[in-house]
This record gives sequence, structure tokens and C-alpha cells, in this order.
Amino acid sequence: MKRLANLPLACLATVNRMFETIETAPADPILGLTAAFRQDSNPEKINLGVGVYQDAEGRTPVLESVKAAEAVILHGETSKGYLPIAGSPEYARAVQELMFTATHEVVRSGRVATSQTPGGTGALRVVGNFLQTMLPKARIWMSEPTWPNHPKIFGAAGVEVQTYPYFDAEQNGLAFDKMLAALETIPAGDVVLLHGCCHNPSGIDPSAEQWQAIAEVVHRRGLLPLVDFAYQGFGEGLREDAVALEALCQAGREMLICSSFSKNFGLYRERVGALSVVAADRESATRVQSQVMAGIRANYSNPPSHGAAVVTTIHGDPQLHSQWEAELRTMRQRINGMRTLFVETLQAKGVDRDFSFITRQRGMFSFSGLTRPQVDRLREEYSIYIVGSGRINVAGMTAGNMDRLCDAIATVLKD
Ligand code: LMR
Repeated sequence: MKRLANLPLACLATVNRMFETIETAPADPILGLTAAFRQDSNPEKINLGVGVYQDAEGRTPVLESVKAAEAVILHGETSKGYLPIAGSPEYARAVQELMFTATHEVVRSGRVATSQTPGGTGALRVVGNFLQTMLPKARIWMSEPTWPNHPKIFGAAGVEVQTYPYFDAEQNGLAFDKMLAALETIPAGDVVLLHGCCHNPSGIDPSAEQWQAIAEVVHRRGLLPLVDFAYQGFGEGLREDAVALEALCQAGREMLICSSFSKNFGLYRERVGALSVVAADRESATRVQSQVMAGIRANYSNPPSHGAAVVTTIHGDPQLHSQWEAELRTMRQRINGMRTLFVETLQAKGVDRDFSFITRQRGMFSFSGLTRPQVDRLREEYSIYIVGSGRINVAGMTAGNMDRLCDAIATVLKD
């Protein structure tokens, strides 16, 4: 610094400033909205943007089961030493049992290997790196639409991204025939990204029969399914929401599963997720897992502990487990109640557009059909925050904000 200060001005002018050419990045379509919401001083603002559960009072509380598990961990933790590269084996087991149950063939045979990751996003990025290094010719196919971060994660990992049709805008439902026909054309060796339940952003899931048909095509075509499993328990129930996994994992079939426990354990900021490799047999799963671990070591080395310890503690204690299941049921039922109230309130306000499809969708999200100008107007004039695509987080609705929300929507729909 002292030397620089002594340099003549002419020399300073030649200092190479590499950052000068770097432009500001656009705001993230979801998390950027949260930042804008926080800055909004309107006391009546409503956040239907980011997928975070809110209770009837609009709060995102720590679950009671999580608080109880944290007390157990606080007193019982004996070390802050590193976890193994793939994380805690007890957590891996808990993840597998939550996805499949303890007695499932996939778990008993040992043909699933699980790594603890920093969130579901971390798991997806580990998959991206794995594909790029181990299966470099594979492209990844995503539903149109999908979570806006999906193409970014795989694009950043250098994996070519393609899309298949999913949403039928006219029916506000699943474009199942088009989806299946598109899957039939994907070349063997490519990867198909599927939302395990509670499709983000549409809230529209295939039925159990449709999952069977999807699994049949995916495997007959020699495609590798990658299931993003971030909302287990928010759709119909813990086991009901696992029908896609059940259909896809049959008899020696391979797949990848990225789990997130942000939503169903309310552990958002603890960043707790997992990548599970389901292979033909135990030997194959172990081999693939060794490459996943090599990728993790070169990325974040080994995972953070706390969130996974919470999940493991709750899963391992029958009392905490049933307390958690009850809390999960309460969240699910509240969201479904808000779906009904939203549709009824819009009707009561004289909105003649049929929004009843919202009661048939599952999970936190719905595609409202609101256009970009309507979404912008809701934010600018009413401090109501909705993702630009028209995706609404139903979990942000409460009995207290419903009137104001529906009045505003009725107004922008009229104009
Ligand atoms: C969402 O879709 O809103 C959540 O998955 C949060 C996020 O990271 O985008």
C-alpha cells in the first residue's frame, strides 16, 4: 500500500483492474423477490414468492419437534470434528427410510448409497458435477416449466439442458400425452429430471398410474431418472408422496434422488439435503458413490452437520417422529385449506374466471395464470409479491390477508 502511494499518478493509471468489466448480475427471480419484500415498508405486504411455509399468523416458526431434537443434540454432541465426505451414515439411513421405509427392497439390498449434502440445491449441483465428469455426453431434460434454478445449476456445471412439455395451460393440468411422447424421443443415455411430488412451480403431479407409465418409458428408452424430492409430505402424505420413487426404482433399475428437508422439517437455513444413488446392486452403488464422494471432496469437502443431526434425531425417536408427522400434517392441511378459501373468496369478490384448478393442485405452489404485467402491478400497487411466472406460494396466504389479496387480484384481473 505504502509503495503504491509513492508511485507517480501516471503509473497508477496503468494498474490492471480486472473487475471493471464485470456487470451486475440480474436479481434471482425468487430470492431477489424476497430481498425486495424485506425492503418494502408497507405493513400490509404479502409474500407469495419464495417457497417458505408460513403459519396462520404469517410466521415461519421452528417446528416443536425440531426444537426438542436440538435440545437433545445440544446436550449429547461430543465433537465438532469433520463428518465423513458423504456425511453421517445414520443420516443416510434415515433419508433412505423416509424415502422408501426400512423394509423396502432398495434399502435392504444396499443398492442405495446416500450422501449428506448442503440442501437439495447442493445435491443437484453434486449431480451436475458427477454428470459432467462421469457421463459427459449425457444431456439433462427438464419439465417446461421447472424451478428456475434447475437450468442454472446444471448449466453452471456444464451439462446441456433440454426441456420436455409438462403444463397444459388450457386445462391447467398435466400435458401427459405430450410429456410421454417427448420422453419417447429422448436418446438413450440422457437424464430426465422429474419432480417427485408437488411440482414446482405448477403444483400439478402425475397420478400413480401416470407415474407407472412414465417409469416404463424412461427405463425402456435407457434414460436415467433424476428425482428432485423436496416436498415429501406436503402433497398427500409421507408414503403417498413417494409413489414416483416406488414406480421408478423397481427391480434393479437405476436412478438418482436429490432430497431436501428445508420444507418438511422447516430447516431452510440449515441447508440439509441428500443425494441418493440407486443402482442395480450394492457393488454398483458403492462404486458410483466413490465418484460422487470424489466430486464432493473437490467441491465443499464434507457437509455441515446440524440440520442432518436434527433429521436423524427426529427419525430415530418414535415420539419425536410422530410429533413431526403431526406438525407436517398441520402444515399440509393449512395449505389445502387456504387453496379452498382462496378460490371461494375470489368467487365471492365476483371474479368470474374459474380458479377451481387451484384446489386440485398440491404442495406449496400453484400456477395462478396471472400475467407478468398483472404480477408487476400487484407488487407495485399492493405490495403483493408473486414470482414473475405467475407462481404463487399458497403457504403465504392466511385468513387474515385473504380479503386484501383477493380484492387486489380481482382489480388487476378486471383492468
Ligand atoms: C422456491 O422455489 O421458492 C424454493 O425452492 C426456494 C428457492 O431456493 O428457490
